[in-house]
Amino acid sequence: MSETASDRTSVPQHVAIIMDGNGRWAQQRGRPRTFGHSKGVEAVRRVVEAAGDRGVRTLTLFSFSTENWNRPADEVGALFELMKRYVAADLASLKKKGVRIRIIGRRDDLTPDLAEIVTKAETDTAENTDFNLNIAFNYGGRDELIRAAQSLAEAVRAGDLNPSDIDEGRLSAALDTAGLPDVDLMIRTSGEQRISNFLLWQAAYAEFYFTDVLWPDFDDVELGRALDSFQQRDRRYGGVDAGAA
Ligand code: IPE
Ligand code: IPE
Ligand code: MG
Repeated sequence: MSETASDRTSVPQHVAIIMDGNGRWAQQRGRPRTFGHSKGVEAVRRVVEAAGDRGVRTLTLFSFSTENWNRPADEVGALFELMKRYVAADLASLKKKGVRIRIIGRRDDLTPDLAEIVTKAETDTAENTDFNLNIAFNYGGRDELIRAAQSLAEAVRAGDLNPSDIDEGRLSAALDTAGLPDVDLMIRTSGEQRISNFLLWQAAYAEFYFTDVLWPDFDDVELGRALDSFQQRDRRYGGVDAGAA
């Protein structure tokens, strides 16, 4: 079916995904959890491609949370290693496809080699404008808000900002997602129905889509289902139905 102009206007601009269920996917196959994480990277590749093809402009993927430090050290190490390998392996092709990469989250706990590769990915793709790929790594919504509050407080202390000038725009601009639109559609795989500290500010008016599909099985068809569901939603932003006034 060909895409019409009106179809495109109801494509969410910013899709965020809580990529959950890698561990269960592996366990169902009698394999270690880290095998599920490796398979999850393949799903990332499919979904980045599919999102661009379907007209999404910004995709934010939750890859490692500030709470995921509670996992066994070998699993944390495997997740760091996979992130490093993914960025190193895909940077050139993402750059060529016009993708701008941003890594959101706390930088200070990253290993020096990971910090280096993510900085390179951001610098190398900074001029790209076709598609925004944000990878949330060592990310927590509360942590991001705390860092934003600290930077605003610093600006006040330096005399560059009046407390009364702090508004939604200023706070948004102090977040890791500065300059990006709010989340329109938040997807979570694996059947869990919670936000787990993801994009707390940016998802204030997001539509939510939950699926039982485990992340390594997520693909273009599943993304299509989520986007179809989004098209049925009536976003009111606190107002009333169009036509009901
Ligand atoms: C999501 O899969 C990946 C990360 C949180 C890093 P999980 O590892 O949480 O998989 P389950 O929820 O245990 O199945
Ligand atoms: C959320 O998944 C974090 C990521 C997908 C990176 P978790 O599996 O860590 O979330 P909880 O602990 O079940 O809420
Ligand atoms: Mg999980």
